[in-house]
Amino acid sequence: MERVYLDHNATTPLDPRVFEAMVPALRDGFGNPSSQHWFGQQARAALDEARGQVAALIGATPAEIVFTASGTEADNIALRGVAGLAREPRRKIVISAVEHHAVLNTARALAGEGWPVETVRVTARGLVDLDDLRAKVDERTALVCLMLANNETGVVQPIAEAVRLAREQGALVHADGVQAAGKIAVDVRALDVDLLALSAHKLYGPKGVGALYVRRGTKLQAWVRGGAQERNRRAGTENVAGVVGFGRAASLAREELAAEGARLGSLRDLLEERLLAIPGALPNGEGPRVPNTTNVSFDGVEAEGLLMALDLMGVAVSTGAACAAGAVEPSHVLRAMGLTAERVQASLRFSLGRGTTEAHLERAAEAVSACIQRQRSASLAGGRRA
Ligand SMILES: Cc1ncc(COP(=O)(O)O)c(C=O)c1O
Repeated sequence: MERVYLDHNATTPLDPRVFEAMVPALRDGFGNPSSQHWFGQQARAALDEARGQVAALIGATPAEIVFTASGTEADNIALRGVAGLAREPRRKIVISAVEHHAVLNTARALAGEGWPVETVRVTARGLVDLDDLRAKVDERTALVCLMLANNETGVVQPIAEAVRLAREQGALVHADGVQAAGKIAVDVRALDVDLLALSAHKLYGPKGVGALYVRRGTKLQAWVRGGAQERNRRAGTENVAGVVGFGRAASLAREELAAEGARLGSLRDLLEERLLAIPGALPNGEGPRVPNTTNVSFDGVEAEGLLMALDLMGVAVSTGAACAAGAVEPSHVLRAMGLTAERVQASLRFSLGRGTTEAHLERAAEAVSACIQRQRSASLAGGRRA
């Protein structure tokens, strides 16, 4: 059975061209980039080249890129780095309610350690509520965290407006760009953000590599302590092969962004049209979105069961639910948008990618439709028996 993978927001397959770029770094380029001899210098050169490639994807300079072990770590370093140097009266951290857990749980931990933290509401469409943001960002705010694109709905946040509000109050801005980079154009100068998180495995690079853009002159407290790697911002010997893969992936993403974005956008619209034709289907998240994502709820349907049934039919999708300690916690993103608990639990995310074809989407739409019909007739029969 040929499987259809529609979960690219969870992770993307390694692009074969990225794999090819990583092989020499894994096989021969074993030197420690901090070593002074030839082996070390070879590794350093590979690291520097990748730094330039990642910087180019987001319009930064190479010196502004700090390699990390993940997007999660980049988010942690951003929040902890700013919070650690924040002094009274400017210590407040403002985040949106739909941030990834990497930001959400770091902010929660900081709140537990005594930092003032405020969470900004989002609208029913999934966009940050700018009035609420305006009310919560003040002269006591050290940092505003707002993601560029949401992982569950694909909604692109009004970052320019948020940055303007933050600047008026003298606050720094951290943007989680993990789901935006490689899908839409991201330019840190145009965005005017101070910090921006990236992750390689969301753009056909390897897992376990991320980056934090740190605008020149931005002061951060080191979070991971040790050696002087990454300009003292993230200690630890760099994952050279991973970083080389990230660099190649960033170059490919940059070269293919326009054409691939247009291709995915029309494929996504096609899928969405088919899904929304199913009775009781409603879209979750409206407004500007990244081109590869659609999130749909199906009235009366139990999405976890639907996901499992689709998996058996060879179609991989996702619910926004997080699995914590064996318990399934419904999507905080959809809940923050004001969806009822029933609707949240009836929602599925479909995220397309480089390998997705129209034939895959035809198959997925038919499978969804068939599974829903089956679930609905089973619950009708169950209802009659009860
Ligand atoms: C918006 C967002 N931020 C951060 C992350 C974390 O990235 P990583 O998987 O590299 O830790 C993810 C991953 O799902 C994400 O979607």
